[in-house]
Amino acid sequence: MSHYAPGLEGVIAGQTAICTVGREGNDLLYRGYSIVDLCAKNVPWEEVAFMLIWGGKPTPQQADQCRGMIVSHRGIPDSLKRVLESIPASATPMDVLRTGWSFLGNIHPEGAADEGEVVSRLVASGPTIIAWWYNHHRGQATRIDYPHADQGGYFLHALNGKMPSDDERRLMNTSMILYSEHAFNASTFTARVVTSTLSDMWSAIVAAVGALKGPLHGGANEEAMHLILKFKSPDDAERGVLEMLAKKEKIMGFGHRAYKVRDPRSDLIRHWAAKLAEKHRDLPYMAIAERIDQVMAREKKMFPNTDFYHAPAYYMSGIPIPLFTPIFAFARVAGWIAHIREQRAENRLIRPTEEYTGPEKREW
Ligand code: COA
Repeated sequence: MSHYAPGLEGVIAGQTAICTVGREGNDLLYRGYSIVDLCAKNVPWEEVAFMLIWGGKPTPQQADQCRGMIVSHRGIPDSLKRVLESIPASATPMDVLRTGWSFLGNIHPEGAADEGEVVSRLVASGPTIIAWWYNHHRGQATRIDYPHADQGGYFLHALNGKMPSDDERRLMNTSMILYSEHAFNASTFTARVVTSTLSDMWSAIVAAVGALKGPLHGGANEEAMHLILKFKSPDDAERGVLEMLAKKEKIMGFGHRAYKVRDPRSDLIRHWAAKLAEKHRDLPYMAIAERIDQVMAREKKMFPNTDFYHAPAYYMSGIPIPLFTPIFAFARVAGWIAHIREQRAENRLIRPTEEYTGPEKREW
Protein backbone atom coordinates (compact mmCIF):
# COMPACT_ATOMS: atom_id res chain seq x y z
CA MET A 1 0.00 0.00 0.00
CA SER A 2 1.42 3.40 -0.93
CA HIS A 3 1.37 6.32 1.47
CA TYR A 4 1.94 10.03 1.03
CA ALA A 5 5.40 11.29 2.10
CA PRO A 6 5.55 15.12 1.85
CA GLY A 7 8.65 16.20 -0.06
CA LEU A 8 9.19 12.49 -0.88
CA GLU A 9 11.05 12.23 2.43
CA GLY A 10 12.15 8.65 3.06
CA VAL A 11 10.89 7.44 -0.34
CA ILE A 12 13.36 5.26 -2.25
CA ALA A 13 12.92 6.65 -5.76
CA GLY A 14 15.63 4.64 -7.50
CA GLN A 15 18.88 2.73 -7.17
CA THR A 16 22.33 4.21 -7.62
CA ALA A 17 25.95 3.09 -7.50
CA ILE A 18 27.29 6.64 -7.63
CA CYS A 19 27.13 8.02 -4.11
CA THR A 20 26.20 7.39 -0.49
CA VAL A 21 25.15 10.28 1.74
CA GLY A 22 25.36 10.02 5.53
CA ARG A 23 25.24 6.23 5.78
CA GLU A 24 27.18 6.51 9.04
CA GLY A 25 25.61 9.85 9.95
CA ASN A 26 28.26 12.21 8.65
CA ASP A 27 30.01 10.57 5.71
CA LEU A 28 29.89 11.16 1.94
CA LEU A 29 31.34 8.66 -0.49
CA TYR A 30 31.64 8.97 -4.28
CA ARG A 31 31.67 5.46 -5.75
CA GLY A 32 33.19 4.33 -2.45
CA TYR A 33 35.81 7.09 -2.22
CA SER A 34 35.43 9.34 0.82
CA ILE A 35 35.38 13.07 0.14
CA VAL A 36 37.68 13.48 3.16
CA ASP A 37 40.29 11.35 1.40
CA LEU A 38 39.78 13.08 -1.98
CA CYS A 39 40.22 16.52 -0.39
CA ALA A 40 43.18 15.50 1.83
CA LYS A 41 44.98 14.17 -1.26
CA ASN A 42 43.94 17.23 -3.27
CA VAL A 43 42.77 14.96 -6.10
CA PRO A 44 42.18 17.17 -9.15
CA TRP A 45 38.47 17.80 -9.58
CA GLU A 46 38.75 16.73 -13.22
CA GLU A 47 39.72 13.22 -12.08
CA VAL A 48 36.88 13.15 -9.56
CA ALA A 49 34.51 14.17 -12.36
CA PHE A 50 35.91 11.42 -14.60
CA MET A 51 35.47 8.83 -11.85
CA LEU A 52 31.86 9.92 -11.19
CA ILE A 53 30.88 10.02 -14.85
CA TRP A 54 32.66 7.00 -16.28
CA GLY A 55 32.58 4.80 -13.19
CA GLY A 56 36.22 4.34 -12.15
CA LYS A 57 39.42 6.10 -11.16
CA PRO A 58 41.19 7.23 -14.35
CA THR A 59 44.49 5.69 -15.36
CA PRO A 60 47.27 8.30 -15.75
CA GLN A 61 46.68 8.16 -19.51
CA GLN A 62 42.91 8.65 -19.11
CA ALA A 63 43.52 11.52 -16.68
CA ASP A 64 45.71 13.26 -19.27
CA GLN A 65 43.14 12.67 -21.98
CA CYS A 66 40.39 14.01 -19.73
CA ARG A 67 42.39 17.15 -18.94
CA GLY A 68 43.04 17.66 -22.65
CA MET A 69 39.33 17.31 -23.47
CA ILE A 70 38.39 19.87 -20.83
CA VAL A 71 40.96 22.42 -21.96
CA SER A 72 39.96 22.01 -25.61
CA HIS A 73 36.24 22.45 -24.92
CA ARG A 74 36.45 25.64 -22.85
CA GLY A 75 35.89 27.87 -25.83
CA ILE A 76 32.36 28.86 -26.82
CA PRO A 77 31.08 29.71 -30.34
CA ASP A 78 30.75 33.35 -31.42
CA SER A 79 26.98 32.88 -31.77
CA LEU A 80 26.80 32.04 -28.05
CA LYS A 81 28.98 35.04 -27.19
CA ARG A 82 26.45 37.29 -28.95
CA VAL A 83 23.58 35.64 -27.05
CA LEU A 84 25.37 36.16 -23.75
CA GLU A 85 26.11 39.78 -24.56
CA SER A 86 22.42 40.38 -25.25
CA ILE A 87 21.40 39.15 -21.78
CA PRO A 88 21.08 42.20 -19.49
CA ALA A 89 23.53 42.84 -16.67
CA SER A 90 20.59 42.64 -14.26
CA ALA A 91 19.96 38.97 -15.08
CA THR A 92 20.49 36.21 -12.53
CA PRO A 93 23.72 34.34 -13.33
CA MET A 94 22.02 30.96 -12.91
CA ASP A 95 19.57 32.03 -15.63
CA VAL A 96 22.53 33.02 -17.80
CA LEU A 97 24.09 29.59 -17.29
CA ARG A 98 20.76 27.91 -18.06
CA THR A 99 20.48 29.90 -21.30
CA GLY A 100 24.13 29.31 -22.22
CA TRP A 101 23.91 25.54 -21.90
CA SER A 102 20.51 25.50 -23.58
CA PHE A 103 21.89 27.43 -26.56
CA LEU A 104 24.98 25.23 -26.77
CA GLY A 105 22.67 22.21 -26.87
CA ASN A 106 21.22 23.53 -30.13
CA ILE A 107 24.67 23.89 -31.67
CA HIS A 108 26.00 20.52 -30.49
CA PRO A 109 22.92 18.30 -30.06
CA GLU A 110 23.32 14.74 -28.89
CA GLY A 111 23.39 12.44 -31.86
CA ALA A 112 25.33 14.89 -34.00
CA ALA A 113 28.12 14.89 -31.41
CA ASP A 114 29.26 11.70 -29.66
CA GLU A 115 28.63 11.23 -25.93
CA GLY A 116 32.22 12.06 -24.93
CA GLU A 117 32.05 15.35 -26.77
CA VAL A 118 28.74 16.43 -25.23
CA VAL A 119 30.04 15.46 -21.78
CA SER A 120 33.28 17.42 -22.33
CA ARG A 121 31.42 20.50 -23.50
CA LEU A 122 29.13 20.41 -20.48
CA VAL A 123 31.96 19.86 -18.03
CA ALA A 124 34.22 22.50 -19.60
CA SER A 125 32.00 25.36 -20.75
CA GLY A 126 30.15 26.61 -17.65
CA PRO A 127 32.92 28.90 -16.35
CA THR A 128 33.42 30.46 -19.79
CA ILE A 129 29.69 31.16 -20.19
CA ILE A 130 29.46 32.97 -16.86
CA ALA A 131 32.78 34.82 -17.18
CA TRP A 132 31.95 35.97 -20.71
CA TRP A 133 28.59 37.45 -19.72
CA TYR A 134 29.87 38.95 -16.48
CA ASN A 135 32.97 40.52 -18.02
CA HIS A 136 31.08 41.86 -21.04
CA HIS A 137 28.94 43.97 -18.74
CA ARG A 138 31.94 45.45 -16.95
CA GLY A 139 33.80 46.15 -20.19
CA GLN A 140 36.45 43.52 -19.57
CA ALA A 141 37.77 40.84 -21.94
CA THR A 142 37.48 37.16 -20.96
CA ARG A 143 40.69 35.18 -21.24
CA ILE A 144 40.35 31.49 -21.98
CA ASP A 145 44.12 30.95 -22.32
CA TYR A 146 44.60 29.52 -18.83
CA PRO A 147 47.48 27.06 -19.11
CA HIS A 148 46.35 24.49 -16.51
CA ALA A 149 43.51 21.99 -16.50
CA ASP A 150 42.01 22.82 -13.09
CA GLN A 151 38.52 24.18 -13.61
CA GLY A 152 38.34 26.24 -10.43
CA GLY A 153 41.57 28.06 -11.25
CA TYR A 154 40.40 28.48 -14.83
CA PHE A 155 37.22 30.19 -13.68
CA LEU A 156 39.09 32.67 -11.46
CA HIS A 157 41.50 33.40 -14.31
CA ALA A 158 38.72 33.83 -16.88
CA LEU A 159 36.84 36.10 -14.48
CA ASN A 160 39.68 38.28 -13.21
CA GLY A 161 42.20 38.03 -16.04
CA LYS A 162 45.04 37.16 -13.66
CA MET A 163 46.58 33.97 -12.34
CA PRO A 164 45.02 32.75 -9.10
CA SER A 165 47.36 31.93 -6.20
CA ASP A 166 48.06 28.31 -5.23
CA ASP A 167 45.80 28.71 -2.20
CA GLU A 168 42.97 30.05 -4.33
CA ARG A 169 43.33 27.13 -6.74
CA ARG A 170 43.38 24.66 -3.87
CA LEU A 171 40.32 26.22 -2.26
CA MET A 172 38.45 26.06 -5.56
CA ASN A 173 39.51 22.44 -6.12
CA THR A 174 38.25 21.48 -2.66
CA SER A 175 35.02 23.37 -3.22
CA MET A 176 34.42 21.71 -6.56
CA ILE A 177 35.08 18.24 -5.12
CA LEU A 178 32.55 18.94 -2.35
CA TYR A 179 29.91 20.23 -4.75
CA SER A 180 30.33 17.46 -7.37
CA GLU A 181 27.74 14.96 -6.29
CA HIS A 182 25.09 14.29 -3.67
CA ALA A 183 22.87 11.35 -4.69
CA PHE A 184 19.13 12.02 -5.18
CA ASN A 185 19.14 15.73 -4.29
CA ALA A 186 16.53 17.97 -5.94
CA SER A 187 18.51 19.01 -9.03
CA THR A 188 19.88 15.52 -9.70
CA PHE A 189 16.44 14.00 -9.31
CA THR A 190 15.15 16.63 -11.74
CA ALA A 191 17.80 15.55 -14.26
CA ARG A 192 16.80 11.92 -13.78
CA VAL A 193 13.10 12.70 -14.27
CA VAL A 194 13.83 14.50 -17.56
CA THR A 195 16.16 11.68 -18.66
CA SER A 196 13.53 9.06 -17.87
CA THR A 197 11.32 10.47 -20.65
CA LEU A 198 14.19 9.70 -23.09
CA SER A 199 14.87 13.40 -23.52
CA ASP A 200 18.42 14.57 -24.24
CA MET A 201 21.34 15.34 -21.90
CA TRP A 202 21.28 19.10 -22.49
CA SER A 203 17.59 19.29 -21.57
CA ALA A 204 18.18 17.30 -18.39
CA ILE A 205 21.07 19.58 -17.39
CA VAL A 206 19.15 22.77 -18.13
CA ALA A 207 16.26 21.53 -15.97
CA ALA A 208 18.71 20.66 -13.20
CA VAL A 209 20.17 24.19 -13.29
CA GLY A 210 16.67 25.54 -12.69
CA ALA A 211 16.26 23.30 -9.64
CA LEU A 212 19.69 24.12 -8.24
CA LYS A 213 19.01 27.86 -8.40
CA GLY A 214 16.45 27.83 -5.60
CA PRO A 215 17.50 29.08 -2.13
CA LEU A 216 16.48 25.81 -0.49
CA HIS A 217 19.10 24.07 -2.67
CA GLY A 218 22.22 25.60 -4.28
CA GLY A 219 21.08 29.18 -3.86
CA ALA A 220 21.68 28.81 -0.11
CA ASN A 221 25.39 29.74 -0.42
CA GLU A 222 24.42 33.20 -1.71
CA GLU A 223 21.69 33.59 0.91
CA ALA A 224 24.13 32.64 3.67
CA MET A 225 26.48 35.44 2.59
CA HIS A 226 23.63 37.97 2.50
CA LEU A 227 22.81 36.90 6.04
CA ILE A 228 26.42 37.27 7.27
CA LEU A 229 26.67 40.71 5.64
CA LYS A 230 23.61 41.91 7.56
CA PHE A 231 25.66 41.91 10.77
CA LYS A 232 28.48 44.16 11.89
CA SER A 233 29.91 41.95 14.64
CA PRO A 234 29.48 38.50 16.23
CA ASP A 235 27.33 40.01 19.03
CA ASP A 236 25.16 41.73 16.47
CA ALA A 237 24.82 38.40 14.63
CA GLU A 238 23.81 36.58 17.81
CA ARG A 239 21.07 39.13 18.51
CA GLY A 240 19.88 39.08 14.90
CA VAL A 241 19.77 35.30 14.57
CA LEU A 242 17.89 34.94 17.88
CA GLU A 243 15.33 37.44 16.58
CA MET A 244 14.99 35.54 13.32
CA LEU A 245 14.52 32.25 15.14
CA ALA A 246 11.89 33.84 17.39
CA LYS A 247 10.03 34.82 14.21
CA LYS A 248 10.42 31.25 12.95
CA GLU A 249 12.58 32.39 10.05
CA LYS A 250 14.99 29.93 8.44
CA ILE A 251 18.72 30.52 8.72
CA MET A 252 20.19 29.79 5.32
CA GLY A 253 23.08 27.33 5.24
CA PHE A 254 21.72 25.21 8.13
CA GLY A 255 19.81 21.98 8.18
CA HIS A 256 19.86 19.00 5.90
CA ARG A 257 17.43 16.32 4.86
CA ALA A 258 20.01 13.53 4.62
CA TYR A 259 22.62 14.17 7.36
CA LYS A 260 21.67 13.45 10.92
CA VAL A 261 25.00 14.06 12.69
CA ARG A 262 26.93 16.62 10.64
CA ASP A 263 27.50 17.60 7.01
CA PRO A 264 31.05 16.34 6.37
CA ARG A 265 31.57 18.92 3.61
CA SER A 266 31.15 21.77 6.06
CA ASP A 267 34.38 21.17 8.03
CA LEU A 268 36.40 20.73 4.83
CA ILE A 269 35.37 24.08 3.40
CA ARG A 270 35.43 25.76 6.80
CA HIS A 271 39.15 24.97 6.94
CA TRP A 272 39.66 27.16 3.86
CA ALA A 273 37.39 29.92 5.12
CA ALA A 274 39.43 29.99 8.36
CA LYS A 275 42.69 30.10 6.40
CA LEU A 276 41.46 33.08 4.40
CA ALA A 277 40.25 34.78 7.58
CA GLU A 278 43.78 34.55 8.99
CA LYS A 279 45.04 36.37 5.91
CA HIS A 280 42.31 39.01 6.16
CA ARG A 281 42.25 39.70 9.88
CA ASP A 282 40.47 43.01 9.31
CA LEU A 283 37.41 41.26 7.85
CA PRO A 284 34.73 40.15 10.34
CA TYR A 285 32.94 37.56 8.19
CA MET A 286 34.42 34.39 9.66
CA ALA A 287 33.91 35.53 13.26
CA ILE A 288 30.29 36.38 12.43
CA ALA A 289 29.77 33.04 10.66
CA GLU A 290 31.23 31.12 13.61
CA ARG A 291 28.95 32.91 16.06
CA ILE A 292 25.90 32.09 13.94
CA ASP A 293 27.10 28.47 13.90
CA GLN A 294 27.36 28.48 17.74
CA VAL A 295 23.90 30.03 18.15
CA MET A 296 22.31 27.49 15.80
CA ALA A 297 23.99 24.60 17.65
CA ARG A 298 22.88 25.93 21.04
CA GLU A 299 19.34 27.02 20.15
CA LYS A 300 18.30 24.56 17.45
CA LYS A 301 20.85 21.72 17.68
CA MET A 302 21.45 22.35 13.99
CA PHE A 303 24.77 22.15 12.13
CA PRO A 304 25.92 24.08 9.07
CA ASN A 305 25.56 22.41 5.70
CA THR A 306 28.14 22.78 2.94
CA ASP A 307 26.76 26.10 1.76
CA PHE A 308 27.30 28.02 4.99
CA TYR A 309 31.10 28.22 5.14
CA HIS A 310 31.33 28.28 1.36
CA ALA A 311 29.86 31.77 1.64
CA PRO A 312 32.73 33.49 3.56
CA ALA A 313 35.32 31.35 1.73
CA TYR A 314 34.15 32.54 -1.69
CA TYR A 315 33.55 36.10 -0.51
CA MET A 316 37.03 36.48 0.96
CA SER A 317 38.41 35.08 -2.33
CA GLY A 318 36.85 38.08 -4.06
CA ILE A 319 34.13 36.14 -5.88
CA PRO A 320 30.98 38.24 -6.40
CA ILE A 321 28.00 36.80 -4.48
CA PRO A 322 25.74 36.26 -7.53
CA LEU A 323 28.39 33.92 -8.97
CA PHE A 324 28.42 31.57 -5.96
CA THR A 325 25.66 29.25 -7.15
CA PRO A 326 26.99 28.96 -10.73
CA ILE A 327 30.26 27.59 -9.29
CA PHE A 328 28.19 24.94 -7.51
CA ALA A 329 26.71 24.10 -10.94
CA PHE A 330 30.14 23.93 -12.66
CA ALA A 331 31.01 21.16 -10.19
CA ARG A 332 27.63 19.43 -9.86
CA VAL A 333 27.40 18.99 -13.61
CA ALA A 334 29.67 15.95 -13.09
CA GLY A 335 27.16 14.35 -10.72
CA TRP A 336 24.24 15.23 -12.99
CA ILE A 337 25.90 13.58 -15.99
CA ALA A 338 26.76 10.50 -13.94
CA HIS A 339 23.11 10.16 -12.91
CA ILE A 340 21.82 10.80 -16.43
CA ARG A 341 24.03 7.95 -17.70
CA GLU A 342 22.95 5.68 -14.86
CA GLN A 343 19.27 6.47 -15.43
CA ARG A 344 19.66 5.66 -19.13
CA ALA A 345 21.30 2.34 -18.37
CA GLU A 346 18.29 1.11 -16.33
CA ASN A 347 15.53 3.40 -17.49
CA ARG A 348 11.92 3.37 -16.46
CA LEU A 349 9.73 6.47 -16.82
CA ILE A 350 9.61 8.31 -13.47
CA ARG A 351 5.97 9.05 -12.86
CA PRO A 352 4.77 8.95 -9.25
CA THR A 353 1.19 8.94 -8.19
CA GLU A 354 -0.67 11.53 -6.12
CA GLU A 355 -3.33 11.99 -3.46
CA TYR A 356 -6.26 14.01 -4.82
CA THR A 357 -7.58 16.74 -2.48
CA GLY A 358 -9.95 18.64 -4.85
CA PRO A 359 -13.76 18.65 -5.15
CA GLU A 360 -15.75 15.48 -5.87
CA LYS A 361 -17.22 14.95 -9.32
CA ARG A 362 -19.72 17.71 -10.19
CA GLU A 363 -21.53 19.25 -13.14
CA TRP A 364 -20.25 22.26 -15.08
N1 COA B 1 16.84 27.44 10.13
C1 COA B 1 15.91 27.37 11.10
N2 COA B 1 15.07 26.34 11.21
C2 COA B 1 15.16 25.34 10.32
C3 COA B 1 16.11 25.36 9.29
C4 COA B 1 16.97 26.46 9.22
N3 COA B 1 17.91 26.53 8.26
N4 COA B 1 15.99 24.23 8.55
C5 COA B 1 14.99 23.56 9.09
N5 COA B 1 14.47 24.22 10.15
C6 COA B 1 13.37 23.79 10.98
C7 COA B 1 12.07 24.09 10.25
O1 COA B 1 11.59 25.37 10.51
C8 COA B 1 11.19 22.99 10.75
O2 COA B 1 10.76 23.34 12.05
P1 COA B 1 9.27 22.98 12.54
O3 COA B 1 9.21 21.48 12.51
O4 COA B 1 9.20 23.59 13.90
O5 COA B 1 8.35 23.61 11.55
C9 COA B 1 12.13 21.79 10.90
O6 COA B 1 13.42 22.36 11.11
C10 COA B 1 12.16 20.91 9.67
O7 COA B 1 12.45 21.71 8.52
P2 COA B 1 12.06 21.35 7.04
O8 COA B 1 12.20 22.57 6.18
O9 COA B 1 10.73 20.66 7.02
O10 COA B 1 13.18 20.30 6.71
P3 COA B 1 13.46 19.70 5.29
O11 COA B 1 14.12 18.39 5.51
O12 COA B 1 12.25 19.75 4.44
O13 COA B 1 14.46 20.77 4.67
C11 COA B 1 16.32 22.03 4.18
C12 COA B 1 15.82 20.65 4.60
C13 COA B 1 17.81 21.93 3.86
C14 COA B 1 15.58 22.49 2.92
C15 COA B 1 16.07 23.02 5.33
O14 COA B 1 16.83 22.66 6.46
C16 COA B 1 16.36 24.45 4.93
O15 COA B 1 15.48 25.12 4.38
N6 COA B 1 17.59 24.95 5.20
C17 COA B 1 17.98 26.28 4.76
C18 COA B 1 18.33 26.27 3.29
C19 COA B 1 19.64 25.59 3.02
O16 COA B 1 20.62 25.83 3.70
N7 COA B 1 19.67 24.78 1.95
C20 COA B 1 20.87 24.10 1.53
C21 COA B 1 20.78 22.65 1.74
S1 COA B 1 22.35 21.85 1.40
